[in-house]
Amino acid sequence: MKYQKIKGTVDILPPETEEWVYLESVVRQVMQRYNYKEIRVPIFEITELFARGIGEATDIVNKEMYSFTDMGGRPLTLRPEATASVVRCYIEESLGKKLPLVKLFYIGPMFRQEKPQKGRQRQFHQFGAEAIGSAEPAVDVEMIALSIDILKELGLSDFVVWINSVGTPAVRARHREKLLEYVRPLADKFPKVDQEKIERNPLRLFDSREKETASLMQEAPLLEQFLDDECCRDFDQVKDIMEKLGIEYQVDPRLVRGLDYYTKTAYEIKSEVLGAQDALSGGGRYDLLVEELGGEPTPAVGFAAGIERILIAMRQEGSSGKGDRSLDLYIVARDTTERTEAIRLAQLFRGQNIAVDIDYCQRSNKAQMKEASRQQARFALFVFTDQIEKQQYQLKNLETGEQEELTVDQITTRLKEERQSQRAEELQQDIQEESN
Ligand code: HAM
Repeated sequence: MKYQKIKGTVDILPPETEEWVYLESVVRQVMQRYNYKEIRVPIFEITELFARGIGEATDIVNKEMYSFTDMGGRPLTLRPEATASVVRCYIEESLGKKLPLVKLFYIGPMFRQEKPQKGRQRQFHQFGAEAIGSAEPAVDVEMIALSIDILKELGLSDFVVWINSVGTPAVRARHREKLLEYVRPLADKFPKVDQEKIERNPLRLFDSREKETASLMQEAPLLEQFLDDECCRDFDQVKDIMEKLGIEYQVDPRLVRGLDYYTKTAYEIKSEVLGAQDALSGGGRYDLLVEELGGEPTPAVGFAAGIERILIAMRQEGSSGKGDRSLDLYIVARDTTERTEAIRLAQLFRGQNIAVDIDYCQRSNKAQMKEASRQQARFALFVFTDQIEKQQYQLKNLETGEQEELTVDQITTRLKEERQSQRAEELQQDIQEESN
């Protein structure tokens, strides 16, 4: 084979694309319920934006960015996440001048040069939301509620919401000192992969996948012992509102995030049906990022979720992305005259919002019928010479096998009715699933 896709990237093919379209439509619906508006930012930005935004000490900036220099000598990077870009846009477009609280969401590809494995790719996709302009813990809860609603709407239930307060940079600096006092003398005992974190980013030792590290970190000083009053107060408020809303959560004092911009409350939603890559979504407050990237001091909070991981969890939990059966009609014709009429009819039905396909490969009658069922068409329409003369065509219901001779108007009505009753059935099923 001459060309192959790049390691860590995937081709998303039909029928899987239907699951994607379904997931994206659910995301858009739920985002709308919470009044988040869609934003589309560029796939690449100046490298410094991510380096400053995400943090020089993070794995993402250190080892995972797809950075390159363009023909004009500019250092650019394919976005590893979208928060820094959204904030760049917020500042550049003065979005805060138009609205006190700017609520945005996005869906799109991100790029990180990580070791590919199940649930981890180099080009992966996220949907996420950012609310820029409010320091209220109620907005933190709105983010969490919003991400839970999307997962539930997609049929997921086996997940846990983990929350923690990661403090402010001052809190983390005080904690870091004590943490280093604890880990430095143990440095030799840490597995090789984690040793370099000790000086670069010791907080990340808390979320290491290595068993030895986890056990060495059992006695390590926790961030919570260093939180200031404001962090504690906001964290308590987040928990309080979650309880009032009946949102279940667990506090994980070892939860740290892989991006440095977080302040105060952070969270992750972890699936119980995924393997090592179990984080479905993650986010938190980032009150200093707007200022760090050159804007006015502006509090903000957001989250992002991994679409590939959600789709894996959906399959595992048996909640298929029920894209509706999309092809209403497959037209069967045999020779040039019949095909010409078939093409005319196909265009006519398509103009009536009916999904139609037709054979363009001059296949036999039988092969066309096979294709119709492979395409899961609801009906087949036979456009044969004697029928063209009568202007009445045989319509065959491919589920029941029933066949009748109808005019074009009658066919249009029949197919539209069929679609409606299919929709009604699906709605009924949804209601039933929800009440179960
Ligand atoms: P993150 O935790 O780095 O946060 O990524 C969010 C989600 O993206 C993860 O929970 C995971 O589901 C998915 N993800 C991350 N890396 C990969 C990968 N290599 N392959 C597949 N899925 C992956 C952020 O990106 C922040 N920007 C979230 C945020 C928004 N915080 C505030 N606002």
